[in-house]
Amino acid sequence: MLTAEQISIIKATAPVVGNHARDITGAFYPLLFERYPHVQAYFNQTHQVQGTQREALAQALVAYASHIDELGQLSDAVSLITHKHCSLNIQPEHYDLVGECLMEAIAMVLGAAVTTAVADAWSAAYRQLADILINAEAMIYQQNAERRGGWQGERRFLIEAIVPESATMTSYYLVPEDQEQAIDFSAGQYVGLILTINGSVVRRNYSLSDAPGARHLRISVKHEQGGVASGYLHQQAKEGNPVLLTAPCGDFVLTQDEYGLDKPLYLVTGGAGITPAISMLNSCVASGREIVFVHAAINSEHHAFSAHVQALASNHDNLKTFYIYEAPLPKDTPDATGYLNADMLKALMSGRQDVDLYYLGPKPFMACVNRIVHELGIPPQQVRSEWFGPREALD
Ligand SMILES: Cc1cc2nc3c(=O)[nH]c(=O)nc-3n(C[C@H](O)[C@H](O)[C@H](O)COP(=O)(O)OP(=O)(O)OC[C@H]3O[C@@H](n4cnc5c(N)ncnc54)[C@H](O)[C@@H]3O)c2cc1C
Ligand code: HEM
Repeated sequence: MLTAEQISIIKATAPVVGNHARDITGAFYPLLFERYPHVQAYFNQTHQVQGTQREALAQALVAYASHIDELGQLSDAVSLITHKHCSLNIQPEHYDLVGECLMEAIAMVLGAAVTTAVADAWSAAYRQLADILINAEAMIYQQNAERRGGWQGERRFLIEAIVPESATMTSYYLVPEDQEQAIDFSAGQYVGLILTINGSVVRRNYSLSDAPGARHLRISVKHEQGGVASGYLHQQAKEGNPVLLTAPCGDFVLTQDEYGLDKPLYLVTGGAGITPAISMLNSCVASGREIVFVHAAINSEHHAFSAHVQALASNHDNLKTFYIYEAPLPKDTPDATGYLNADMLKALMSGRQDVDLYYLGPKPFMACVNRIVHELGIPPQQVRSEWFGPREALD
């Protein structure tokens, strides 16, 4: 518990820490990796190079400091961070290492402004936040272990089948090596995949792309040019190979019961963002709930799961599809060409605001849908999004 004096110190110094947050997190990661090299393998090095993780941590610290006396406001951020941490198997003992390096980074960047009282207040504030995250993570780990087919930590799976879904996306069917049991998760969640590539451990997240309750977990991976994990999976992985997985995590899940019928469900995705939407679709299409499945792809060659979704649509009247191709091939007949825009989504919504809308895609796609959703006035609690990397600001 912070004292009243510490809270006022945090409030008074929050603006200066906020102004220097990027410098602080920029100093923090090299310090952490130099002093505790074993921790580096938990972090996606591409996000380090791109600076997106540095930025996400800076924003989290600013948000925390500015809500230090109203922590309830941070519940969405806590949920996002803790699910991400659990998917990477972050443990309580890691928090001391991070705290030590973060406090040193603050002192390095702010210099003499960090008096003993300021340092003590920020250390206490860090400890408080660490405890909130550690407790929330303990609950996620426990829930994940208690689910049917669940587990805690890293578990060995075997690649049972490799199935191409488009010119650039391939599905991997993964079964636990130690048991054959249906595995529960919430449609829309993702796993942590741990690979050893050329002697280095690489951790990446992948959304599960099939409905829960099967004996396999399926991930569907887009081949990124020059990508370490996707390159390995597409070019080297073979059926029968082992991989390590953490238990499914993430809060990009259907807020209503998946069989809830009251609001139409809009699944709006671009490119590789289709994967969790397929899991949601597969899990609830048979319920009869009205579903509008909107997907943007380059063209039919890059359009993953199109035959699968078309087959579902021909058997379920409650499912409507709308496809937008950026660069259609001569044989393609999409519903629209170019990029998703406000007019397309408005026409699909027919002025309705009582919908649940889930969206995921590349950053410009996310920015566009985010803007349209605001314009249409859909209540924020009915809109959810996921990111295939550290969450970024859209405005
Ligand atoms: C919650 C979540 C769910 C996800 N679900 C999916 C999913 O279902 N399907 C899916 O395909 N992906 C998904 N992702 C993304 C996935 O985790 C990986 O980020 C993605 O597969 C790329 O990883 P990679 O190792 O192949 O590429 P990386 O090696 O990370 O490289 C990514 C890109 O950056 C470039 N790059 C790397 N380093 C540099 C550098 N130094 N300079 C310039 N360019 C560089 C590479 O050339 C490449 O184009 C998800 C991510 C998250 C966070
Ligand atoms: C109070 C302490 C911490 C805060 C505020 C914090 C905050 C964050 C945030 C905001 C993200 C990005 C979430 C997203 O948008 O996906 C993140 C991701 C991550 N965090 Fe933490 N974190 C803390 C402690 C730790 C600790 C102790 C570790 C362990 C070493 C850790 C390891 C990671 C990793 C590996 C990622 C994913 C990085 C990536 O994708 O590149 N964090 N954290």
